[in-house]
Amino acid sequence: MEIMKFGEAAKRMHADQDRTKALLDENIVPNIKKSGNKRDTYYVPELFFDYAKAMLGLEKEKEFKHLPIDVETYRKFHNRKGVKTIAFSNLKGGVGKTSIAANFAYNLALLNKRVLLVDMDSQANSSRYFANRYFVNESIKNIFDKMTRREPVEKEDVRRYIVPIDFDNAELELLPSELSLGRIVEFSRSVFTMPHKKLADMLKLVEEDYDFIVIDTPPSVGLSLHMALYASDLVSIVTDAEDFSVNGLNELYLEIRELAEETDHDVRVDSVFINKVKKSNIHSVYIEAIAEMAAREGIDNVYVVKESTRLKESQNLHIPLVEYKKELEKRLPIAESMVEYAVEKAQEA
Ligand SMILES: Nc1ncnc2c1ncn2[C@@H]1O[C@H](COP(=O)(O)OP(=O)(O)OP(=O)(O)O)[C@@H](O)[C@H]1O
Ligand SMILES: [Mg+2]
Repeated sequence: MEIMKFGEAAKRMHADQDRTKALLDENIVPNIKKSGNKRDTYYVPELFFDYAKAMLGLEKEKEFKHLPIDVETYRKFHNRKGVKTIAFSNLKGGVGKTSIAANFAYNLALLNKRVLLVDMDSQANSSRYFANRYFVNESIKNIFDKMTRREPVEKEDVRRYIVPIDFDNAELELLPSELSLGRIVEFSRSVFTMPHKKLADMLKLVEEDYDFIVIDTPPSVGLSLHMALYASDLVSIVTDAEDFSVNGLNELYLEIRELAEETDHDVRVDSVFINKVKKSNIHSVYIEAIAEMAAREGIDNVYVVKESTRLKESQNLHIPLVEYKKELEKRLPIAESMVEYAVEKAQEA
């Protein structure tokens, strides 16, 4: 991915040093800033630059020179058509749902979107990735708990469990999960006639605070997955490229269709991430099969993400991939598709 540095960005915007610094520091032109001992380094992906230009309605790059750097300008990045909810799913485990959902969510936040990451998996991996801690009796579980006791649930009851996540260049919010979530979700079956609607009901209460809600889902068919799909406008399928992966995708498809028929809610599969692809071409036949299936289903956004230790390293450091210096300096080869997809969705909204 093409990435500009400070000088290049200044030149493109016809702006002097102070103004360029202000535009970058206020994230009016989204960028990733790394503070050093002597000076700061700004990384401005070309895609972010074009995105800012489009969102701000600028025809020429030199218009950056006169752009007001204020709250109103910043608000231009917020969605006009309301919140969009995207679930990352696969029935198969360990394929990268959490890694890609969390990074995609952060990339949207970098693009000045207001983002809520919802962890619907009782393994709580996305909660741990971004919050770097365990949540015990202080998660989305508590809200379901209250619902199943048939107590009224208000906006504050949901907000109470949402935690802010601050990284170097953007912030987002997390509705964390914990181990006992699965049990409560299953229990809700015996309490409600339409339990699959309960996550959607909950998120409705806070949706005005966000431009995007990103849901990480567990690797199995069950009520948690149904709740997530029912609450979503779009699904992104994350898969690896192994034998049986295509079968698994077909099953997920069936599941989505069945749910659509049963519940009258049509969730659209919007993208496929083929993850953990090795350098050698042992995966190519599976990649082809998955891409063919995606084409048959009319999915345009098909991305390939290579296998890389950098993803795990960034997870161990509890920072998003785009904030990880080793990845940034190599011009984001692993993060690229997650960035591209975020820019596409951000620009549509
Ligand atoms: N492109 C990649 N290259 C290398 N390792 C990866 C890649 N993507 C994911 N991983 C690693 O694979 C493991 C599983 O990833 P992740 O937790 O994102 O998958 P998941 O589908 O959410 O799993 P689960 O089904 O358990 O929820 C993690 O250790 C993660 O760091
Ligand atoms: Mg996961």
